[in-house]
Amino acid sequence: MKKRLVVLTMAVLFGLSAVACGSEGGSSSGGSGAGTESASTGSADGGTVANKDKPLVWFNRQPSNSSTGELDMAALSFNEDTYYVGFDANQGAELQGTMVKDYIEANIDKIDRNGDGVIGYVLAIGDIGHNDSIARTRGVRKALGTGVEKDGDIDSEPIGTNTDGSAAAVQDGTLEINGKEYTVRELASQEMKNSAGATWDAATAGNAIGTWSSSFGDQIDIVVSNNDGMGMSMFNAWSKDNKVPTFGYDANNDAVAAIAEGYGGTISQHADVQAYLTLRVLRNALDGVDVDTGIGTADDAGNVLTDDVYVYNEEERSYYALNVAVTAENYQDFTDSTKVYEPVSNQLDESAHPSKKVWLDIYNASDNFLSATYQPLLQNYDDLMNLEIDYIGGDGQTESNITNRLGNPGQYDAFAINMVKTDNAASYTALLNQ
Ligand code: BGC
Repeated sequence: MKKRLVVLTMAVLFGLSAVACGSEGGSSSGGSGAGTESASTGSADGGTVANKDKPLVWFNRQPSNSSTGELDMAALSFNEDTYYVGFDANQGAELQGTMVKDYIEANIDKIDRNGDGVIGYVLAIGDIGHNDSIARTRGVRKALGTGVEKDGDIDSEPIGTNTDGSAAAVQDGTLEINGKEYTVRELASQEMKNSAGATWDAATAGNAIGTWSSSFGDQIDIVVSNNDGMGMSMFNAWSKDNKVPTFGYDANNDAVAAIAEGYGGTISQHADVQAYLTLRVLRNALDGVDVDTGIGTADDAGNVLTDDVYVYNEEERSYYALNVAVTAENYQDFTDSTKVYEPVSNQLDESAHPSKKVWLDIYNASDNFLSATYQPLLQNYDDLMNLEIDYIGGDGQTESNITNRLGNPGQYDAFAINMVKTDNAASYTALLNQ
């Protein structure tokens, strides 16, 4: 009884101090103030701070409407310590499109495999309701001149097959190279979703290239994919043997290594910076310091990022890492995608940044990018930031498979969430609101 009273009093005090801090970046989770000795242990913290006031970061899947792309600001500003960490989807999409176009221009004398005068490509789409996937489809269609406008933007719908060039959602593009005009055609595109509902599905992409190549293989001059997981699956199933350049996104280790064997190129979305930011915004809130600490402003260990690797959009409460193209020219610099980014690789001192417990989920344990690149990076940074993280891997299909495993949020000091569908933020915030 007496203990309960103390806890209640502390809760009131914390409430007051949070109000007093205002928007100064003061954390409502108060890990460092006076009299919080007991609060530095996970469970005591959990008892002191309401779950709805604990630091929360969304990452890789931005809370947004999957049909319109409109940001879900209620989720993005759930509490004063809520942020999103991702990357600049439009800048990356433009880079991917330009990388493919540059490749065609540089290899024009050998690219048209059957000599029909049409440069044909096929496109693997990750998730028609994921804004990163939509941006990449648009970026490629824009650069190659195959996009058509719909509602003021480039249509990003998959077309099925289009070997005769009659599909409505794309058009034949024209590229003028060395004074000669070439037609570019999107021969086929498909959302790579498996029968159980998992998107960005590499195995589905491997099957699709099998089907496409057996019916119109000699027309395929280029393979493009919204990510490396699907791209590598198509490369291994068909394009490597047939010497057809294949382009992906993410710069996963296997894809970067495959550039030496004919994989056309990929885009690094600076996962090393994203993984850092994902944990850093939580660390800062837990320490009750300004959110820019160790990001735009050097921290006590010397960690700092320069503005050529990320941007912060305050209105969207979102950090976006910037992308870099990885091709035959520079891939040697990208061979280890799980290495921490050197400027932010300094260990935080445990006395000033005491150990905290974090719950973190990955929407699909078999997503190549998240499991092969992002999670290993998070695991490298969690030690450096004294965060003890429980990693939960979902099935990529249902939110409940993940939320069922957040039975006791009170055990944790902070949360990092990767949703199955970008529309579903409320499934998580409802749990924290209870
Ligand atoms: C990555 C994909 C990944 C997806 C999952 C994207 O940012 O590029 O590879 O499958 O996120 O949400």
